[in-house]
Amino acid sequence: MLLKPAHSLKGEIHIPGDKSISHRSVMFGALAEGLTEVTHFLQGADCLSTISCFQKLGIEIENTPERILVHGKGLHGLRKPDCVLDAGNSGTTVRLLSGILAAQPFSCTLTGDASIQKRPMKRIMTPLRQMGADISGLNENDCAPLAVQGASLKGIHYQSPVASAQVKSCVLLAGLYAEGPTCVTEPSLSRNHTELMLASFGADINCQNTSAVIQPEPKLTGQKIEVPGDISSAAYFIAAALLVPNSEVLIRNCGINPTRDGILRAAKAMHADIEMLNRHTISGEPVCDLLVRSGNLTGTVIEGDLIPALIDEIPVIAVMAACAEGTTVIRDAAELKVKESDRIETIVTNLKAMGADISATDDGMIIHGGKPLHYAVTDTHHDHRIAMAFSVAGLVADGGIEIADDACVRISYPEFYHDLNSLRV
Ligand code: S3P
Repeated sequence: MLLKPAHSLKGEIHIPGDKSISHRSVMFGALAEGLTEVTHFLQGADCLSTISCFQKLGIEIENTPERILVHGKGLHGLRKPDCVLDAGNSGTTVRLLSGILAAQPFSCTLTGDASIQKRPMKRIMTPLRQMGADISGLNENDCAPLAVQGASLKGIHYQSPVASAQVKSCVLLAGLYAEGPTCVTEPSLSRNHTELMLASFGADINCQNTSAVIQPEPKLTGQKIEVPGDISSAAYFIAAALLVPNSEVLIRNCGINPTRDGILRAAKAMHADIEMLNRHTISGEPVCDLLVRSGNLTGTVIEGDLIPALIDEIPVIAVMAACAEGTTVIRDAAELKVKESDRIETIVTNLKAMGADISATDDGMIIHGGKPLHYAVTDTHHDHRIAMAFSVAGLVADGGIEIADDACVRISYPEFYHDLNSLRV
């Protein structure tokens, strides 16, 4: 895909459904009794992988353009699949599903694509084993395919070494089936959709600071869920509207959960012009419309507790930083190395190829902004967020940009190029 530079972006974008919430709506709906009806579900490849895994576990799921209907069978209604469960590219599917499978009265195998088979799984296997799970993997037990033999579990208090919603959610889901309460404490608060949504399905879950405690064997009841727009998808339009001169874009229906709104906080520190309009709540999640106008950005420091609230947005924030005046330092973000690609490496290599002054550090990067960007071919490493972040960079690069494997945007935002091009004037 060759993208030409843009002179100005104007108009309105309706952001597709949140990926994390879409996954969870299917998973929790499957474990609830009765019907769960989901509107504005994200039809991205990752969420379709979750649907397909639960169908193989015996759950009837109707997927129509208007809504998803999940015919839940209760906590003990899953059945042994007659084939390997394939999570595709989706870390959320593998890690959350492992917590559920660890407690089922059957065995099964869970795998995914080449990227998934390289991603670390010890982070979930360690706590699950402490709970009594029988789970093993390849590569010294760190990688999928994972073999899970259901077992009886006991509640634990797990101090997670990483701020990861996937680890936290995996342990809490296993805790639904454990003997006694299960507690997870993390070093900084990661996204809290599991806690909010499980509570709305009827789970007994208590959250304080960076800890969550869940009681076992609740009766979960099917819900009606409207999925808010995904701030991680909105991020590309926020950045594009800030960077392309003479732009004004209204981004409708953007989720602004405080555990996810780090990009707004970082953009504010960079002196971005973003207005939050029409604040309201849908399905227990805060949302608003964002009115974004172009302007000059300045460098900033992004670190500490802010990192989990913008971890998936760092590729596009790095692009913003490359176009800002002054230096941006991103630290405490070693988690970037174990995402769909090693994002420290993919961001730094691809921005350097465009002429940016950027260097990698052990846990982030340092960007001296303001050098003009020019044409390059982006090697996405099949990473959807790298493809979209560099498409934004192409809008302000001399000669535009070429994205190798642009099709990977289907993972989280199938209509991305259509929506982006609709704003050009
Ligand atoms: C997700 C959690 C995050 C995030 C991923 C989605 C989730 O991963 O990067 O895209 O839905 O729980 P980690 O838990 O590994 O930080």
